[in-house]
Amino acid sequence: MDENLGKKILVIDDEAYIRDSVVGFLEDFGFDIVEAENGRIGLEQFEKFQPDLILCDLRMPEMDGLEVLAHVTKKNENIPIIIVSGAGNISDTVEALRLGAWDYIIKPIQDMNVLFHAVDKAFERKRFIEEKTRYQKELELANKDLKTSLETLEQTRDQLVQSAKMAALGELVAGVAHEINTPVGVGVTAASFLDAKTREFHGMYKAGELKRSELENYLTTVEEVSNSILINMERAAELISSFKQVAVDQSSENRRQFNLKEYMDEILLSLRPRYKKTNHRIRVSCDPDIELNSFPGAFSQILTNLIMNSLIHGFSGLENRAIEMDVTRKEGQVIFAYRDNGRGMDQKQKDKAFDPFFTTMRGKGGTGLGMSVVFNLVTQTLKGNIKLESEIGQGVVFIMTFPERWPEHRDDQ
Ligand SMILES: Nc1ncnc2c1ncn2[C@@H]1O[C@H](COP(=O)(O)OP(=O)(O)OP(=O)(O)O)[C@@H](O)[C@H]1O
Ligand SMILES: [Mg+2]
Repeated sequence: MDENLGKKILVIDDEAYIRDSVVGFLEDFGFDIVEAENGRIGLEQFEKFQPDLILCDLRMPEMDGLEVLAHVTKKNENIPIIIVSGAGNISDTVEALRLGAWDYIIKPIQDMNVLFHAVDKAFERKRFIEEKTRYQKELELANKDLKTSLETLEQTRDQLVQSAKMAALGELVAGVAHEINTPVGVGVTAASFLDAKTREFHGMYKAGELKRSELENYLTTVEEVSNSILINMERAAELISSFKQVAVDQSSENRRQFNLKEYMDEILLSLRPRYKKTNHRIRVSCDPDIELNSFPGAFSQILTNLIMNSLIHGFSGLENRAIEMDVTRKEGQVIFAYRDNGRGMDQKQKDKAFDPFFTTMRGKGGTGLGMSVVFNLVTQTLKGNIKLESEIGQGVVFIMTFPERWPEHRDDQ
């Protein structure tokens, strides 16, 4: 009975004895009751009293039950209305149900339990609807949260992919800076040696002590040293120019005409510092006639990631390993086979290798984005496909196939 305390019921009926019996009965259950003797007063009470449930007769003076029903459902369609009507009013009762009444009871009410049951059922249904609405709201809210999280995740993923690309570029920068250091260092030493020799020579000349043999000696030194300076400076210039192109390509998404073999040589030159201190070898065999009008940046990203992976994962702790690349053409397709004879991958690694964030180097510098970047570049940028074959202890084979002529689409122009 306590659960009924505070629940407000409005009883609208023009017959006083019916109201009395209904009110008396329901009050015993703890409900809070207000009465009205016709529809008009009923509506006033509805506004004032804000009941949780309405029991309403159909035939009444001034305003009948159907009109009350229409007004109330217009204001609040979640308020239970139970029609209490005479047995002769079946068609009106049906109409009332159609208009939104929740239930009906036939007068005279012979068993008050029928009334209680109807009221109890209506409250239960109301609670159920309220709960459903609340869940729905919570769900909508959770959905909104999820959508926001998803958007944040997508943004983070894009940023990570971007930083993975930048990391590959970073490999190049670090490698090339290191590589250029050697020829420039040799050049500086040679130039200062030449400078010292010239001063010495100049001193002898001024003092009139210059012998023919010393002149010949000096000339030979100048020739040798300037030649060494030239070779080293040329090497530095070559490194810088190939690096410049590769770096620009790698950081931009420009499309241009290039010869694949020459471009691969430039990429490998830029990556050489990464493996030259090891005893691993890289062999490239590429058809020299493959001219592509494509995205060179994609190739340098792909090669950098594949080679770094072989060095870091495939060859870790191993000596004397090899990377082999074979690039051929067939029926308008370029077939690019990349192999290493390193540690290879087990089935699980193989299945997940292209998944973003899959790495066996978590916490040791791996983000797990390298292969997913490669996959996207091959399938989306180059419009091709990539397959991986590997077994533990057997190295890896990546076969990439992409069209020689990049398909033209209107939106790419
Ligand atoms: N040549 C390879 N030999 C053996 N395992 C490899 C090779 N290449 C990739 N893998 C495996 O695939 C995983 C995913 O490679 P991926 O390049 O996506 O990530 P990562 O190298 O771990 O990290 P990141 O490239 O982002 O620094 C690696 O962690 C490694 O387990
Ligand atoms: Mg990697």
